[in-house]
Amino acid sequence: MDVAVVGGGISGIVTALLCKRDGARVAVLERGQIAGGATGFTTAKASALQQTKLAEIERLHGAEATAIYARASLEAIELLDRFVHEYEIDCGWERLPDWTYALDDTQVEAIGEQARAARAAGLDVVEHAATPLPFPVSAAVRLRHQAQFNPVRLVRTLAQVVVGDDCQVFERTPVLDAEEGSPCTVTTEQGHRVSAGAVVVCTNYPLLDRGLFFTRTEATRSYLIAARVYDPVEQAMAISAGAPVRSFRSYTDPDGQPWVLVGGEGHTTGSEDAQPERYELLERFAREHFDVARVDYRWSTQDGMPVDRLPYAGRYTARSRHLFVNGGHQKWGMTNGVAGARIVADLIAGRENAAAATFDPHRHSLRAVPERAKAQAWVGAHMLGDRLAPAQASSADDVPAAEARVVRDGFGKVGVYRDEHERLHAVSLRCTHLGCLVHWNAAERSWDCPCHGSRFDIDGQVLAGPATAPLQRREPPT
Ligand code: FES
Repeated sequence: MDVAVVGGGISGIVTALLCKRDGARVAVLERGQIAGGATGFTTAKASALQQTKLAEIERLHGAEATAIYARASLEAIELLDRFVHEYEIDCGWERLPDWTYALDDTQVEAIGEQARAARAAGLDVVEHAATPLPFPVSAAVRLRHQAQFNPVRLVRTLAQVVVGDDCQVFERTPVLDAEEGSPCTVTTEQGHRVSAGAVVVCTNYPLLDRGLFFTRTEATRSYLIAARVYDPVEQAMAISAGAPVRSFRSYTDPDGQPWVLVGGEGHTTGSEDAQPERYELLERFAREHFDVARVDYRWSTQDGMPVDRLPYAGRYTARSRHLFVNGGHQKWGMTNGVAGARIVADLIAGRENAAAATFDPHRHSLRAVPERAKAQAWVGAHMLGDRLAPAQASSADDVPAAEARVVRDGFGKVGVYRDEHERLHAVSLRCTHLGCLVHWNAAERSWDCPCHGSRFDIDGQVLAGPATAPLQRREPPT
Protein backbone atom coordinates (compact mmCIF):
# COMPACT_ATOMS: atom_id res chain seq x y z
CA MET A 1 0.00 0.00 0.00
CA ASP A 2 1.24 3.53 -0.83
CA VAL A 3 0.14 6.23 1.62
CA ALA A 4 0.38 9.99 1.05
CA VAL A 5 0.33 12.08 4.24
CA VAL A 6 -0.51 15.78 3.91
CA GLY A 7 1.12 17.78 6.71
CA GLY A 8 4.42 17.36 8.55
CA GLY A 9 3.43 18.17 12.14
CA ILE A 10 3.27 15.63 14.93
CA SER A 11 0.03 14.09 13.62
CA GLY A 12 1.38 13.69 10.07
CA ILE A 13 4.78 12.34 11.03
CA VAL A 14 3.44 9.84 13.57
CA THR A 15 0.77 8.73 11.06
CA ALA A 16 3.50 8.25 8.45
CA LEU A 17 5.74 6.35 10.85
CA LEU A 18 2.97 3.99 12.00
CA CYS A 19 1.98 3.28 8.37
CA LYS A 20 5.63 2.64 7.51
CA ARG A 21 5.93 0.25 10.46
CA ASP A 22 2.88 -1.55 8.99
CA GLY A 23 4.82 -2.04 5.75
CA ALA A 24 3.42 0.87 3.67
CA ARG A 25 5.45 3.05 1.29
CA VAL A 26 4.86 6.57 2.62
CA ALA A 27 5.29 10.09 1.24
CA VAL A 28 4.83 13.10 3.56
CA LEU A 29 3.98 16.39 1.82
CA GLU A 30 4.54 19.45 4.02
CA ARG A 31 3.74 23.07 3.04
CA GLY A 32 6.77 24.51 4.86
CA GLN A 33 9.21 22.75 7.16
CA ILE A 34 8.69 19.67 9.29
CA ALA A 35 7.25 20.77 12.65
CA GLY A 36 7.16 24.34 11.30
CA GLY A 37 3.42 24.86 11.92
CA ALA A 38 1.33 24.48 15.07
CA THR A 39 3.54 21.61 16.32
CA GLY A 40 6.60 23.82 16.58
CA PHE A 41 4.68 26.64 18.24
CA THR A 42 3.08 24.76 21.11
CA THR A 43 4.21 24.46 24.72
CA ALA A 44 4.37 20.68 23.99
CA LYS A 45 2.54 19.41 27.02
CA ALA A 46 1.30 15.85 26.48
CA SER A 47 -1.36 15.32 29.11
CA ALA A 48 -4.59 13.41 29.54
CA LEU A 49 -5.85 16.01 32.04
CA GLN A 50 -6.16 18.84 29.48
CA GLN A 51 -7.43 21.79 31.50
CA THR A 52 -11.27 21.35 31.68
CA LYS A 53 -11.64 19.35 28.48
CA LEU A 54 -12.87 16.12 30.10
CA ALA A 55 -15.80 17.87 31.78
CA GLU A 56 -16.73 19.48 28.43
CA ILE A 57 -16.55 16.16 26.56
CA GLU A 58 -18.62 14.45 29.23
CA ARG A 59 -21.29 17.16 28.93
CA LEU A 60 -21.52 16.76 25.14
CA HIS A 61 -20.81 13.05 24.61
CA GLY A 62 -21.29 11.24 27.93
CA ALA A 63 -19.08 9.34 30.35
CA GLU A 64 -18.16 6.41 28.10
CA ALA A 65 -16.79 8.62 25.29
CA THR A 66 -14.86 10.63 27.91
CA ALA A 67 -13.25 7.47 29.28
CA ILE A 68 -12.27 6.37 25.76
CA TYR A 69 -10.80 9.79 25.03
CA ALA A 70 -8.81 9.82 28.30
CA ARG A 71 -7.46 6.32 27.63
CA ALA A 72 -6.48 7.30 24.07
CA SER A 73 -4.58 10.30 25.50
CA LEU A 74 -2.68 8.13 27.99
CA GLU A 75 -1.83 5.62 25.25
CA ALA A 76 -0.59 8.44 23.02
CA ILE A 77 1.84 9.56 25.75
CA GLU A 78 3.08 6.00 26.19
CA LEU A 79 3.61 5.65 22.43
CA LEU A 80 5.68 8.84 22.35
CA ASP A 81 7.63 7.59 25.38
CA ARG A 82 8.43 4.36 23.50
CA PHE A 83 9.53 6.32 20.40
CA VAL A 84 11.79 8.54 22.50
CA HIS A 85 13.55 5.54 24.02
CA GLU A 86 13.54 3.29 20.96
CA TYR A 87 15.02 5.96 18.66
CA GLU A 88 17.09 7.57 21.46
CA ILE A 89 15.64 11.01 20.74
CA ASP A 90 17.28 13.95 22.50
CA CYS A 91 14.20 16.15 22.98
CA GLY A 92 14.16 17.01 26.69
CA TRP A 93 11.50 14.36 27.35
CA GLU A 94 10.32 14.63 30.99
CA ARG A 95 7.51 12.82 32.83
CA LEU A 96 5.91 15.35 35.19
CA PRO A 97 2.64 16.04 36.96
CA ASP A 98 0.16 18.23 35.09
CA TRP A 99 -2.07 20.67 36.97
CA THR A 100 -5.28 22.51 36.25
CA TYR A 101 -5.55 25.34 38.76
CA ALA A 102 -8.13 27.97 39.74
CA LEU A 103 -6.71 31.48 39.44
CA ASP A 104 -9.56 32.76 41.59
CA ASP A 105 -12.80 31.64 43.24
CA THR A 106 -14.78 31.88 39.98
CA GLN A 107 -12.81 28.89 38.63
CA VAL A 108 -13.20 26.60 41.67
CA GLU A 109 -16.37 24.94 40.40
CA ALA A 110 -14.69 24.12 37.07
CA ILE A 111 -11.87 22.39 38.94
CA GLY A 112 -14.38 20.24 40.82
CA GLU A 113 -16.21 19.34 37.60
CA GLN A 114 -12.97 18.44 35.83
CA ALA A 115 -11.75 16.33 38.76
CA ARG A 116 -15.04 14.45 38.88
CA ALA A 117 -15.11 13.84 35.09
CA ALA A 118 -11.45 12.75 35.10
CA ARG A 119 -12.03 10.29 37.95
CA ALA A 120 -15.12 8.89 36.21
CA ALA A 121 -12.97 8.46 33.08
CA GLY A 122 -10.51 6.34 35.02
CA LEU A 123 -7.75 8.89 35.62
CA ASP A 124 -5.97 8.84 38.95
CA VAL A 125 -6.37 12.55 39.73
CA VAL A 126 -5.98 14.28 43.08
CA GLU A 127 -7.49 17.61 44.14
CA HIS A 128 -5.08 19.74 46.13
CA ALA A 129 -5.48 22.92 48.07
CA ALA A 130 -1.69 23.39 48.17
CA THR A 131 0.44 23.10 45.04
CA PRO A 132 4.10 23.61 44.14
CA LEU A 133 3.05 26.51 41.86
CA PRO A 134 4.77 29.82 42.64
CA PHE A 135 1.56 31.63 43.58
CA PRO A 136 -1.52 30.84 45.68
CA VAL A 137 -4.43 29.21 43.89
CA SER A 138 -8.05 28.74 44.94
CA ALA A 139 -8.14 25.05 43.95
CA ALA A 140 -6.26 22.62 41.73
CA VAL A 141 -6.38 19.11 40.30
CA ARG A 142 -3.28 17.07 39.48
CA LEU A 143 -2.51 14.12 37.23
CA ARG A 144 0.92 12.54 37.66
CA HIS A 145 3.29 11.14 35.04
CA GLN A 146 2.33 13.22 32.03
CA ALA A 147 5.04 14.59 29.70
CA GLN A 148 6.65 17.71 28.30
CA PHE A 149 9.34 17.91 25.63
CA ASN A 150 10.80 19.88 22.72
CA PRO A 151 8.34 19.14 19.88
CA VAL A 152 10.60 20.28 17.04
CA ARG A 153 13.45 17.98 18.07
CA LEU A 154 11.08 15.05 18.60
CA VAL A 155 9.13 15.40 15.35
CA ARG A 156 12.15 16.17 13.15
CA THR A 157 13.91 13.07 14.46
CA LEU A 158 10.83 10.95 13.82
CA ALA A 159 10.70 12.40 10.29
CA GLN A 160 14.26 11.16 9.74
CA VAL A 161 13.10 7.71 10.83
CA VAL A 162 10.29 7.87 8.25
CA VAL A 163 12.75 8.52 5.41
CA GLY A 164 14.24 5.42 3.80
CA ASP A 165 12.96 2.05 2.51
CA ASP A 166 11.14 3.86 -0.33
CA CYS A 167 9.55 6.39 2.07
CA GLN A 168 10.08 10.12 1.57
CA VAL A 169 9.42 13.43 3.29
CA PHE A 170 8.98 16.48 1.03
CA GLU A 171 9.19 19.95 2.59
CA ARG A 172 8.07 23.18 0.84
CA THR A 173 5.44 21.16 -1.02
CA PRO A 174 2.01 22.74 -0.49
CA VAL A 175 -0.91 20.50 -1.43
CA LEU A 176 -3.77 22.06 -3.37
CA ASP A 177 -6.15 19.13 -3.66
CA ALA A 178 -6.61 15.39 -3.25
CA GLU A 179 -8.95 13.28 -5.36
CA GLU A 180 -10.17 10.01 -3.95
CA GLY A 181 -10.01 7.00 -6.29
CA SER A 182 -8.05 3.86 -7.04
CA PRO A 183 -5.47 5.21 -6.78
CA CYS A 184 -6.03 8.60 -5.07
CA THR A 185 -4.27 11.62 -6.62
CA VAL A 186 -2.73 14.47 -4.64
CA THR A 187 -1.94 17.70 -6.54
CA THR A 188 0.81 19.99 -5.28
CA GLU A 189 1.33 23.71 -5.87
CA GLN A 190 4.36 22.86 -8.02
CA GLY A 191 2.04 20.88 -10.32
CA HIS A 192 3.19 17.42 -9.25
CA ARG A 193 0.60 14.67 -9.04
CA VAL A 194 1.21 12.01 -6.42
CA SER A 195 -0.63 8.67 -6.65
CA ALA A 196 -1.36 6.68 -3.50
CA GLY A 197 -3.67 3.92 -2.32
CA ALA A 198 -4.62 6.06 0.69
CA VAL A 199 -4.33 9.76 1.56
CA VAL A 200 -4.36 11.13 5.11
CA VAL A 201 -4.90 14.88 5.61
CA CYS A 202 -3.08 15.79 8.84
CA THR A 203 -3.50 19.56 8.81
CA ASN A 204 -4.85 20.96 12.06
CA TYR A 205 -7.78 22.56 10.19
CA PRO A 206 -8.98 19.97 7.59
CA LEU A 207 -7.71 21.27 4.27
CA LEU A 208 -10.11 19.92 1.64
CA ASP A 209 -13.54 21.36 0.89
CA ARG A 210 -15.49 18.22 1.60
CA GLY A 211 -16.80 16.60 4.72
CA LEU A 212 -18.27 20.02 5.66
CA PHE A 213 -15.66 20.46 8.39
CA PHE A 214 -15.85 24.22 7.98
CA THR A 215 -19.45 24.19 9.29
CA ARG A 216 -18.32 22.70 12.62
CA THR A 217 -14.73 23.80 13.20
CA GLU A 218 -13.63 27.14 14.62
CA ALA A 219 -10.10 28.50 14.36
CA THR A 220 -8.50 30.17 17.35
CA ARG A 221 -5.23 31.98 17.90
CA SER A 222 -3.24 31.99 21.10
CA TYR A 223 0.01 33.59 22.20
CA LEU A 224 3.18 32.45 23.93
CA ILE A 225 6.32 33.94 25.36
CA ALA A 226 9.60 32.32 26.46
CA ALA A 227 11.38 34.03 29.37
CA ARG A 228 14.82 33.34 30.82
CA VAL A 229 14.56 33.02 34.60
CA TYR A 230 17.24 33.35 37.29
CA ASP A 231 15.81 30.59 39.50
CA PRO A 232 14.71 27.30 37.94
CA VAL A 233 10.94 26.98 37.84
CA GLU A 234 9.45 24.09 39.82
CA GLN A 235 9.27 21.17 37.37
CA ALA A 236 5.59 21.19 36.53
CA MET A 237 3.08 21.88 33.79
CA ALA A 238 -0.01 23.90 34.62
CA ILE A 239 -2.95 25.73 33.09
CA SER A 240 -5.72 27.83 34.61
CA ALA A 241 -9.28 26.48 34.52
CA GLY A 242 -10.74 29.48 32.70
CA ALA A 243 -10.22 33.00 31.41
CA PRO A 244 -7.78 34.58 31.51
CA VAL A 245 -6.03 31.38 30.44
CA ARG A 246 -2.49 31.18 31.77
CA SER A 247 -0.65 28.04 30.72
CA PHE A 248 3.00 27.50 31.61
CA ARG A 249 5.78 24.95 31.74
CA SER A 250 9.41 24.83 32.73
CA TYR A 251 12.19 24.35 30.16
CA THR A 252 15.93 23.90 30.52
CA ASP A 253 17.97 24.55 27.38
CA PRO A 254 21.02 22.45 26.37
CA ASP A 255 23.31 24.95 28.19
CA GLY A 256 21.43 24.41 31.45
CA GLN A 257 19.71 27.82 31.31
CA PRO A 258 16.24 27.69 32.95
CA TRP A 259 13.27 29.17 31.11
CA VAL A 260 9.56 29.44 31.60
CA LEU A 261 7.09 29.28 28.70
CA VAL A 262 3.82 31.11 29.29
CA GLY A 263 0.81 30.92 26.96
CA GLY A 264 -2.77 32.14 26.82
CA GLU A 265 -4.87 35.10 25.59
CA GLY A 266 -6.62 32.95 22.98
CA HIS A 267 -9.34 34.34 20.72
CA THR A 268 -11.18 33.45 17.53
CA THR A 269 -9.03 33.99 14.45
CA GLY A 270 -9.91 37.19 12.61
CA SER A 271 -11.41 38.92 15.65
CA GLU A 272 -10.48 42.42 16.76
CA ASP A 273 -8.62 40.90 19.75
CA ALA A 274 -5.50 40.26 17.63
CA GLN A 275 -3.48 43.08 19.18
CA PRO A 276 0.15 43.29 20.38
CA GLU A 277 -1.12 43.79 23.97
CA ARG A 278 -1.74 40.01 24.12
CA TYR A 279 2.01 39.49 24.56
CA GLU A 280 2.29 42.25 27.13
CA LEU A 281 -0.37 40.62 29.33
CA LEU A 282 1.50 37.30 29.25
CA GLU A 283 4.76 39.05 30.07
CA ARG A 284 3.15 40.83 33.01
CA PHE A 285 1.95 37.47 34.39
CA ALA A 286 5.44 35.95 33.94
CA ARG A 287 7.14 38.85 35.73
CA GLU A 288 4.60 38.75 38.57
CA HIS A 289 5.10 35.07 39.31
CA PHE A 290 8.59 34.08 38.15
CA ASP A 291 12.07 35.48 38.59
CA VAL A 292 12.29 36.69 34.99
CA ALA A 293 15.65 37.89 33.67
CA ARG A 294 14.32 38.80 30.25
CA VAL A 295 11.75 37.77 27.66
CA ASP A 296 13.59 36.62 24.55
CA TYR A 297 10.87 35.10 22.39
CA ARG A 298 7.22 35.65 21.63
CA TRP A 299 5.10 33.86 19.08
CA SER A 300 1.55 32.82 18.33
CA THR A 301 -0.16 29.76 17.01
CA GLN A 302 -3.43 28.59 15.58
CA ASP A 303 -5.66 25.64 16.40
CA GLY A 304 -8.64 23.97 14.74
CA MET A 305 -11.43 23.61 17.30
CA PRO A 306 -14.33 21.23 16.49
CA VAL A 307 -17.41 22.74 18.09
CA ASP A 308 -18.31 19.43 19.77
CA ARG A 309 -14.89 19.32 21.52
CA LEU A 310 -13.63 16.02 20.05
CA PRO A 311 -10.91 15.77 17.39
CA TYR A 312 -11.41 14.26 13.94
CA ALA A 313 -9.65 10.98 13.13
CA GLY A 314 -11.09 8.66 10.51
CA ARG A 315 -12.66 8.70 7.06
CA TYR A 316 -12.74 12.12 5.39
CA THR A 317 -16.40 11.86 4.37
CA ALA A 318 -18.97 9.30 5.48
CA ARG A 319 -18.49 7.57 2.09
CA SER A 320 -14.70 7.80 1.87
CA ARG A 321 -12.77 4.56 1.55
CA HIS A 322 -9.25 5.78 0.86
CA LEU A 323 -9.26 9.38 2.09
CA PHE A 324 -8.69 10.04 5.81
CA VAL A 325 -8.38 12.97 8.19
CA ASN A 326 -6.42 13.48 11.42
CA GLY A 327 -7.09 17.05 12.55
CA GLY A 328 -9.06 19.41 14.78
CA HIS A 329 -6.77 18.76 17.72
CA GLN A 330 -8.32 21.31 20.10
CA LYS A 331 -4.98 22.73 21.34
CA TRP A 332 -3.96 19.27 22.61
CA GLY A 333 -2.24 18.00 19.47
CA MET A 334 0.61 16.31 21.33
CA THR A 335 -1.86 13.64 22.46
CA ASN A 336 -4.75 14.05 20.00
CA GLY A 337 -2.50 14.07 16.92
CA VAL A 338 -0.87 10.84 18.10
CA ALA A 339 -4.15 9.19 19.14
CA GLY A 340 -5.55 10.16 15.71
CA ALA A 341 -2.48 8.68 13.99
CA ARG A 342 -3.05 5.35 15.72
CA ILE A 343 -6.72 5.32 14.67
CA VAL A 344 -6.04 6.16 11.01
CA ALA A 345 -3.11 3.72 10.76
CA ASP A 346 -5.38 1.00 12.18
CA LEU A 347 -8.16 1.84 9.70
CA ILE A 348 -5.73 1.68 6.79
CA ALA A 349 -4.34 -1.63 8.02
CA GLY A 350 -7.85 -3.05 8.61
CA ARG A 351 -7.41 -3.33 12.40
CA GLU A 352 -9.97 -2.56 15.11
CA ASN A 353 -9.37 0.53 17.22
CA ALA A 354 -11.41 1.04 20.39
CA ALA A 355 -11.34 4.85 20.05
CA ALA A 356 -12.34 4.99 16.36
CA ALA A 357 -16.07 5.57 16.96
CA THR A 358 -15.41 8.34 19.50
CA PHE A 359 -13.00 10.19 17.17
CA ASP A 360 -15.12 9.44 14.06
CA PRO A 361 -15.34 12.73 12.11
CA HIS A 362 -18.97 11.96 11.26
CA ARG A 363 -20.26 11.32 14.79
CA HIS A 364 -23.45 13.00 15.91
CA SER A 365 -24.11 14.65 19.23
CA LEU A 366 -27.50 16.25 19.72
CA ARG A 367 -26.11 18.08 22.74
CA ALA A 368 -23.59 19.80 20.44
CA VAL A 369 -26.29 21.25 18.13
CA PRO A 370 -26.39 24.65 19.94
CA GLU A 371 -22.56 24.91 19.68
CA ARG A 372 -22.77 24.27 15.96
CA ALA A 373 -25.54 26.83 15.52
CA LYS A 374 -23.45 29.40 17.40
CA ALA A 375 -20.46 28.79 15.11
CA GLN A 376 -22.60 29.16 12.00
CA ALA A 377 -24.18 32.35 13.33
CA TRP A 378 -20.68 33.80 13.79
CA VAL A 379 -19.79 32.93 10.16
CA GLY A 380 -23.11 34.29 8.87
CA ALA A 381 -22.63 37.56 10.75
CA HIS A 382 -19.19 38.04 9.17
CA MET A 383 -20.25 36.95 5.67
CA LEU A 384 -22.82 39.74 5.60
CA GLY A 385 -21.76 42.25 8.24
CA ASP A 386 -18.19 42.70 7.01
CA ARG A 387 -19.44 43.56 3.52
CA LEU A 388 -21.65 46.31 4.92
CA ALA A 389 -18.98 47.76 7.20
CA PRO A 390 -17.54 51.09 5.99
CA ALA A 391 -13.92 51.40 4.83
CA GLN A 392 -11.42 52.76 7.37
CA ALA A 393 -9.71 55.12 4.89
CA SER A 394 -10.53 56.68 1.55
CA SER A 395 -6.99 56.54 0.16
CA ALA A 396 -3.78 54.55 0.62
CA ASP A 397 -2.19 57.90 1.54
CA ASP A 398 -4.04 57.69 4.86
CA VAL A 399 -2.34 54.43 5.91
CA PRO A 400 0.45 55.08 8.46
CA ALA A 401 3.76 53.22 8.24
CA ALA A 402 3.75 49.68 9.75
CA GLU A 403 -0.04 49.70 9.84
CA ALA A 404 -2.88 48.51 7.63
CA ARG A 405 -6.29 49.87 6.75
CA VAL A 406 -9.33 48.77 4.76
CA VAL A 407 -9.37 51.40 1.99
CA ARG A 408 -12.30 52.37 -0.21
CA ASP A 409 -11.78 51.45 -3.85
CA GLY A 410 -14.65 52.65 -6.05
CA PHE A 411 -17.67 50.70 -4.77
CA GLY A 412 -15.47 48.09 -3.12
CA LYS A 413 -12.71 47.85 -0.50
CA VAL A 414 -9.06 46.83 -0.56
CA GLY A 415 -6.66 45.85 2.22
CA VAL A 416 -3.58 48.11 2.25
CA TYR A 417 -0.48 47.71 4.42
CA ARG A 418 2.33 50.29 4.39
CA ASP A 419 5.66 48.78 5.45
CA GLU A 420 8.50 50.50 7.36
CA HIS A 421 10.10 51.53 4.03
CA GLU A 422 6.85 53.25 2.94
CA ARG A 423 6.12 50.55 0.35
CA LEU A 424 2.42 49.76 -0.09
CA HIS A 425 1.09 46.20 -0.22
CA ALA A 426 -2.51 45.96 -1.40
CA VAL A 427 -4.65 42.83 -1.58
CA SER A 428 -8.24 41.86 -2.20
CA LEU A 429 -10.08 41.28 1.07
CA ARG A 430 -12.01 38.35 -0.38
CA CYS A 431 -10.80 35.13 1.25
CA THR A 432 -10.09 32.48 -1.38
CA HIS A 433 -11.71 29.76 0.73
CA LEU A 434 -15.40 30.70 0.69
CA GLY A 435 -15.38 34.45 0.18
CA CYS A 436 -15.60 36.02 3.66
CA LEU A 437 -13.65 39.26 4.06
CA VAL A 438 -10.30 39.05 5.84
CA HIS A 439 -9.41 41.26 8.83
CA TRP A 440 -6.06 42.82 9.72
CA ASN A 441 -4.18 41.08 12.53
CA ALA A 442 -2.11 43.84 14.16
CA ALA A 443 -0.27 41.44 16.49
CA GLU A 444 1.26 39.46 13.63
CA ARG A 445 0.81 41.65 10.55
CA SER A 446 -1.32 39.27 8.56
CA TRP A 447 -4.76 39.22 6.96
CA ASP A 448 -6.90 36.68 8.87
CA CYS A 449 -10.29 35.30 7.92
CA PRO A 450 -12.87 35.28 10.73
CA CYS A 451 -14.99 32.55 9.11
CA HIS A 452 -12.69 29.49 9.19
CA GLY A 453 -9.27 30.86 10.09
CA SER A 454 -7.33 31.09 6.80
CA ARG A 455 -4.41 33.50 7.12
CA PHE A 456 -2.46 35.43 4.48
CA ASP A 457 0.71 37.52 4.57
CA ILE A 458 0.88 41.20 3.58
CA ASP A 459 1.15 40.20 -0.11
CA GLY A 460 -1.67 37.67 0.11
CA GLN A 461 0.36 34.43 0.28
CA VAL A 462 -1.28 31.66 2.30
CA LEU A 463 0.05 31.28 5.85
CA ALA A 464 -2.64 28.89 7.07
CA GLY A 465 -5.58 27.05 5.47
CA PRO A 466 -8.22 25.90 4.80
CA ALA A 467 -7.60 28.34 1.87
CA THR A 468 -4.99 27.07 -0.58
CA ALA A 469 -4.92 29.98 -3.06
CA PRO A 470 -3.41 33.43 -2.31
CA LEU A 471 -5.41 36.65 -2.02
CA GLN A 472 -5.44 38.61 -5.28
CA ARG A 473 -2.89 41.44 -5.44
CA ARG A 474 -4.46 44.85 -6.07
CA GLU A 475 -3.29 48.35 -6.94
CA PRO A 476 -3.29 50.62 -3.84
CA PRO A 477 -6.22 53.05 -4.29
CA THR A 478 -5.17 56.69 -4.17
FE1 FES B 1 -13.33 30.07 4.98
FE2 FES B 1 -12.08 32.38 4.74
S1 FES B 1 -11.41 30.62 5.73
S2 FES B 1 -14.03 31.88 4.01
